[in-house]
Amino acid sequence: MAILVTGGAGYIGSHTCVELLNAGYEVVVCDNYCNSVPEVLERIKQITNKNIAGYDCDIRNRAGLEKIFSENSIEAVIHFAGLKAVGESTREPIMYYDNNISGTVTLLDVMKEYNCKSIVFSSSATVYGNNPIPYEETMVTGDVSNPYGRTKHFIEQILGDVYVSDNEWSISLLRYFNPIGAHESGLIGEDPNGIPNNLMPYISRVAIGKLPQLTVFGGDYDTKDGTCIRDYIHVVDLAKAHLCALNKLKSDPHSIDAYNIGTGIGYSVLDIINAFEDATGQKVNYKIGERRAGDLPAFYANPKKANEVLGWHAERNLHDMCEDTWRFQKNNPNGYKKD
Ligand code: NAD
Ligand code: WQD
Repeated sequence: MAILVTGGAGYIGSHTCVELLNAGYEVVVCDNYCNSVPEVLERIKQITNKNIAGYDCDIRNRAGLEKIFSENSIEAVIHFAGLKAVGESTREPIMYYDNNISGTVTLLDVMKEYNCKSIVFSSSATVYGNNPIPYEETMVTGDVSNPYGRTKHFIEQILGDVYVSDNEWSISLLRYFNPIGAHESGLIGEDPNGIPNNLMPYISRVAIGKLPQLTVFGGDYDTKDGTCIRDYIHVVDLAKAHLCALNKLKSDPHSIDAYNIGTGIGYSVLDIINAFEDATGQKVNYKIGERRAGDLPAFYANPKKANEVLGWHAERNLHDMCEDTWRFQKNNPNGYKKD
C-alpha cells in the first residue's frame, strides 16, 4: 500500500516525502511541476536511498489520476497540490479557484471511485482571518481577505460535506503557520520562481547577493518592535506532522479534525533578520518600508491539540530554521536550476 502525495515535488511536499520514505512508506507523487522541478524527486531518492514513483500529472486531469490509482494501491492521500501566492490570487482568482478547488474536487471524486477515503489536506492559518490570537481550532473560520485563503476555507467546507455524506471518510485538515528552513542535507529546500513573496527566501537571496535589499513591510505596527509577528515553523517539523496525522486517521476511521501546525511562538520580522545573521554570520541588508496590504499585525498558533491528540511537537528552533535555510541556499545558489 502506498501514500499518494499530490504536489510532492514542492517545498513542503518534498520534505514530507523524505519523512514518509524514512518511515517505510511507499510513496507516489503526482505533480504538474507548475512550481517545482522533477529534479526534486532525484534529490529525495539521494537523501533516502529509496525509490519514489513520480507522475507528471495535473490534479484536474481525471484520466491521469485514474491511471495513478489503477497502477498503485493507494491507501491515503496527502494533498499539497495547489497555488499559494496571495497577491497573484487577487489578480487571477479564477485560476486559483480552478486549480485549487476544481483540482481538489476531481481528486476527491477519483479517490471515491477507487475506494480510497483517507486524506490529509494542506490548509492554512490564513483561514482564521481576524480572530484573536493565539488561533485555536474551535474558532469560527472563513473571514478571509483574499481568493487564495478562500480556496483553503472552501476546501475545508467541501471536505466537511464529504465527511458527512459517507461514514468511510477520514479527513485531517492541517492548518500550517509559516514554514521555513530546509532539510539538513542541504539537498532540498524552498526555491520560489522569480522574486520571492515570502520573508525567509527573500532574506536568503539578499544574503547570497541575488537581491540587493530586503524591505521590511511596516515598522509601525502595535508590536514589540513595530514589525509583524508570525509563527515560523521548521519545514521538517511540519513534514513530520503529516505522519502523525496519517497514524491518527488509521486509528480513528470516520473522523474529521483540524489541527494547528505551528510552534506557538511568535517572532517579529526583525527577530528573524537577527536570528538569520546570528546563525549564518551573513549580514542582511534591509530597510523599513511601507506596510503590505492585507498583512495582519500578529498571529501564532495554539498547537495544544496537535501536541496532545496527534502526539506531535515542533522540535527545531529558530536557529535551526535559519541555519538550514542558509545551507540549502549556499549549496544551491541558483536553486534547483543547474549552474
Ligand atoms: P509549492 O508551490 O512549493 O508546492 C505545491 C506543489 O503543487 C508544486 O510542486 C506544484 O508544482 C504542485 N501543483 C500545483 N498545482 C497543481 C496541480 N493542479 N496539479 C498537480 N500539481 C500541482 O508550495 P508549498 O509551500 O510546498 O505548499 C504546499 C501546500 O501547502 C499548498 O497547498 C499551500 O497552499 C499549503 N500551504 C503552504 C504554506 C506556505 O507558507 N508554504 C502555508 C500554508 C499552507
Ligand atoms: C511574513 C512576514 C511580512 C516579505 C503567507 C500567507 C499565508 C501562508 C504563509 C499559505 C510578514 C514580512 C515579507 C518581505 C517583509 N501561506 N515580509 N518583507 O504573509 O505571514 O503568510 O505565507 O497559506 O497564507 O499569507 O508570510 O513570508 O509573506 O511574510 O517584511 O519581503 O514578513 O510583512 O509580516 P505571511 P510572508
